[in-house]
Amino acid sequence: MKKELLILAVVVAFSLLTYWLVEPYAHSVMHPHVQNRGFQYDGTADIEEMQNKISALNESKAAEEAKEMRDPKAIANIEADLVAAKTRLETKISFWKDIKRIAALPIDINLTAGEAAYQNCLGCHMEGAAAMGGVIPPRLESAGAIYDRNYLIGLIKDPAMVSNVDHKFSIVRHHEMESVKYMVSTDEDIVNVIAYLQSIAPKAEEITPKVAFEDSCGRCHSVKYKAWTVIGEKPRFKLKKDDFAFELKKYEYEEGLTQYMGKLPPDLSMYIRSRGPEYISAFMEDPQQLLAGTSMPRVGINADTAEKVVEYLVEAGDPKHEERDRIGMYVMIYMIFFVIAAYLWKRQIWKDLH
Ligand code: HEC
Ligand code: HEC
Repeated sequence: MKKELLILAVVVAFSLLTYWLVEPYAHSVMHPHVQNRGFQYDGTADIEEMQNKISALNESKAAEEAKEMRDPKAIANIEADLVAAKTRLETKISFWKDIKRIAALPIDINLTAGEAAYQNCLGCHMEGAAAMGGVIPPRLESAGAIYDRNYLIGLIKDPAMVSNVDHKFSIVRHHEMESVKYMVSTDEDIVNVIAYLQSIAPKAEEITPKVAFEDSCGRCHSVKYKAWTVIGEKPRFKLKKDDFAFELKKYEYEEGLTQYMGKLPPDLSMYIRSRGPEYISAFMEDPQQLLAGTSMPRVGINADTAEKVVEYLVEAGDPKHEERDRIGMYVMIYMIFFVIAAYLWKRQIWKDLH
């Protein structure tokens, strides 16, 4: 008996050791802790990112080597990179300062003027719009409820800058939405059009996880477990011919999307499982921070919408999650009863033998 107890103690001790020491460590390596910043868009993250880049350039091995070797060409290259990075930093600082200024303006809202300005948006964001550059401009019916206000101001001012993909564009290559700044150009128009968007949007509690996902991510990402494709939900076709026609249309759109983004954005059915909700959340808010150089733009949704997107992805990647939790409880209760019953039974049977 003593020996058995000793073995049990050793097994328990090792199990606890694994559980408390090794498991969290393995978890921290495979899923490093990441956290969103609360979906407040004020430029802090982008400015920090540029400052870090500048210090990395200053301290890089290439820079040290160039100085040591007194190689004028290498030094000039590094100087040029530094000047470019510093210019980007200055541009970002003044861009976000301007957003803050507009956000705080005491403007009397004029919804009629907002509606008039909104007509400019509909020029591209209309029902059944064709792909532009490689994406279909998303529906704007929900925009007033799902996007952050600061982000929307920034989007009209400079879409590449606010979504932190300015490095992909240049004097010759413009963001597809950039021309909006010539159409909706005064501070009053910007504030009014956003107020108008908010006035036509459903209330936040009426936005479902499905709408949150489709309107903010659906033009780039498919979720095949939900039958969602980048051109919309795939219907069940009776005729094979219609199925092929849909697939062809999707394929052609994906080709354009791949060209626009440099690669085809992945299907998100299983991402919630491989990366976890914290990662997905932080990634949406600031893709560059977790995947430097990525072509995925920041999406600019508010915290409430981000939660709903995660909910949608959990449902897609792990549809049995809730059921499992519920059944798990029943199984535990059953086991406890079973152990008690087995013990009583054993006592009953052995009673006469002792
Ligand atoms: C010249 C065409 C054009 C005009 C005009 C235009 N947009 Fe866009 N908009 C686009 C395209 C294209 C995209 C998708 C860009 C992408 O995903 O890279 C887009 C994306 C968006 C998004 C999603 C942004 C995100 O981060 O996911 C919002 C919101 C939006 N536009 C609002 C507006 C509003 C409001 C107006 C009017 C003030 C407007 N747009 C005017 C073309 C346009
Ligand atoms: C304008 C297109 C576009 C939109 C909109 C978009 N994405 Fe992406 N997304 C991409 C591209 C492109 C990649 C591939 C990035 C890479 O590998 O560099 C990507 C990659 C990802 C990844 C994989 C990250 C990884 O670690 O590999 C996740 C997760 C993701 N997107 C989530 C989202 C969510 C959630 C939304 C909506 C809130 C969204 N995306 C909206 C284009 C987009």
